[in-house]
Amino acid sequence: MTSKPFSEYAERNGPAILEVLRDEFSSATRVLEIGSGTGQHAVQFAGALKHLQWQTSDLDENCEGISAWVQSSGLSNLMPPLALDVRTARLPGATYDAVFSANTSHIMSLDSVERMFALIGRTLKLDGVFCLYGPFRQADAFNSPSNGRFHESLRARDSAMGIRDIEVLDEFGTKNGLTRRRLYAMPANNHVAVWVKLSPISD
Ligand SMILES: C[S@@+](CC[C@H](N)C(=O)[O-])C[C@H]1O[C@@H](n2cnc3c(N)ncnc32)[C@H](O)[C@@H]1O
Repeated sequence: MTSKPFSEYAERNGPAILEVLRDEFSSATRVLEIGSGTGQHAVQFAGALKHLQWQTSDLDENCEGISAWVQSSGLSNLMPPLALDVRTARLPGATYDAVFSANTSHIMSLDSVERMFALIGRTLKLDGVFCLYGPFRQADAFNSPSNGRFHESLRARDSAMGIRDIEVLDEFGTKNGLTRRRLYAMPANNHVAVWVKLSPISD
């Protein structure tokens, strides 16, 4: 079996995110996770929220590691990863009633983030919920000096990366039938933003 990739960070931030998902996904049934990374979050969340069928996904190169976590978890409500790139993915319409993603919007280019919202708008059922965890800018400002430094370090690594303005994400949401209903403050200057699909989307 492939060895399991490990992220200390995902291990640490998982419990606080889980408490948000307990509420936000309380009446959901099928969840798509975009950018599952190592797969650790999926194991934590599917293990605690047994009413959910949790579908992992990521770029092809990460799928083997995620599969290793899925297999060793033995969880029957956790699905092996889909190879899913938000830039090219086509999913059947209105299939999921929840979507989760963590730490993706500052890693993907802004164009990819817009495509992620379009994909989510198409694949969520009406009243479906999208929870996005990560650092965000709000009202043209970073919420901490450390997030400002993090943004600069991302830009130095790749000029397409960077912490996104929540207002820009809201615009992407609006274009795709998604209205933000909450912004939870989380440890370490992160947030969980929650959008709900209130309008149908024509494919
Ligand atoms: C910082 S990691 C976060 C991983 C995990 N969600 C976590 O919080 O530990 C960013 C993830 O986004 C994924 N990603 C980047 N570009 C993507 C794209 N175009 N489509 C889908 N996933 C993408 C990466 O492969 C990676 O797993």
